[in-house]
Amino acid sequence: MYVPPKTLTNDDLAKMVDTTDSWISTRTGIKVRHVAEPGTGTSELCLEASRRALADAGVDPKELDFVVVGTLTPDMPFPSTACFVQMGLGAAQAYAMDLGAACSGFIYSLSVADALIRSGRGKKGLVVGGEILSSVVDYTDRSTCILFGDGAGAVVLAECEEGEGVLSCHLHSDGNLWELIHCPGGGTIDPCNPGTSTVRTNFIKMLGNETFKHAVTRMAEVSLEALERNGVGVEDVALFIPHQANQRIVSAVGKRMGVPEKKVFMNLERYGNTSAASIPIALAEAKSQGRYSKGDLVLLVAFGGGLTWGSALLRM
Ligand code: UT7
Repeated sequence: MYVPPKTLTNDDLAKMVDTTDSWISTRTGIKVRHVAEPGTGTSELCLEASRRALADAGVDPKELDFVVVGTLTPDMPFPSTACFVQMGLGAAQAYAMDLGAACSGFIYSLSVADALIRSGRGKKGLVVGGEILSSVVDYTDRSTCILFGDGAGAVVLAECEEGEGVLSCHLHSDGNLWELIHCPGGGTIDPCNPGTSTVRTNFIKMLGNETFKHAVTRMAEVSLEALERNGVGVEDVALFIPHQANQRIVSAVGKRMGVPEKKVFMNLERYGNTSAASIPIALAEAKSQGRYSKGDLVLLVAFGGGLTWGSALLRM
């Protein structure tokens, strides 16, 4: 994982919009988030996280067959952020692509990477989630600017025996609810132009309360789907790693599923919601903190704009 060094605390935000540390802490669980310097490419964060993942796995970039980057904040419309990562790593044999599934971007990318390996389109690949959300956050809108942070996380995925690694992935979408979280500007409907920023269409818009309700229902459903598919129960899972959107969302999902709090990995307090980066950042920290052991079951679950949601059960 990698996050840019600069931080934005709740007190910093309270100087920018009408909010308080106490409101943000109680309603979200967030204390601080990291933000990149303006003009930074998301690929720079992805590249550093990828180098760390490759070093940890003892894999040379030249061994990689593919690079998939989940992101909603690419360096530019094209080429893909993944191509910049591939170039930076010198992963000469790897094909590279981005995947857009908002905050579910890492699970979607993991699912695609898993399918690529299973279908023989590669033996070893890099799966990355990276975002510079500060580039699309409206720092005059208190209902959204307090939530988001920047960062990246990466994993090396390789062929393994059946029953190890990614056991199953479960993906869902509902485009009917696209308006709940979206960024209207910067695409073909409203291309970037000098007027865009003055009418603020190039920033995240969210109906927080509605999104919250869908997040709780869908994350619980898709977590249970993964457990049922694999014939295991909550008690068999060593660690749950949810997308870090809001402490109250995660607590409500845990309560519905009967997951004890100590089995749920949280680092939201220090990073905020980093969208597609939140799960791989959490995975990296869970690993370094010894929160799971070899052979353990770990359940990843995410929810985001689209709407999109998904889960993956891993045998570590
Ligand atoms: O990453 C994927 C998806 N994203 C999510 O899952 C995010 C889901 N949503 C949320 O996390 C929460 O809905 C928020 C944290 C965004 C908002 O919390 P909430 O408890 O749903 O608050 P609310 O939107 O119902 O607003 C309650 C009140 C409102 O004031 P009134 O109308 O009751 O007078 C807001 O204007 O809180 C006000 N408010 C704030 N007050 C102080 C909204 N933002 C702030 C703020 N500081 N930053």
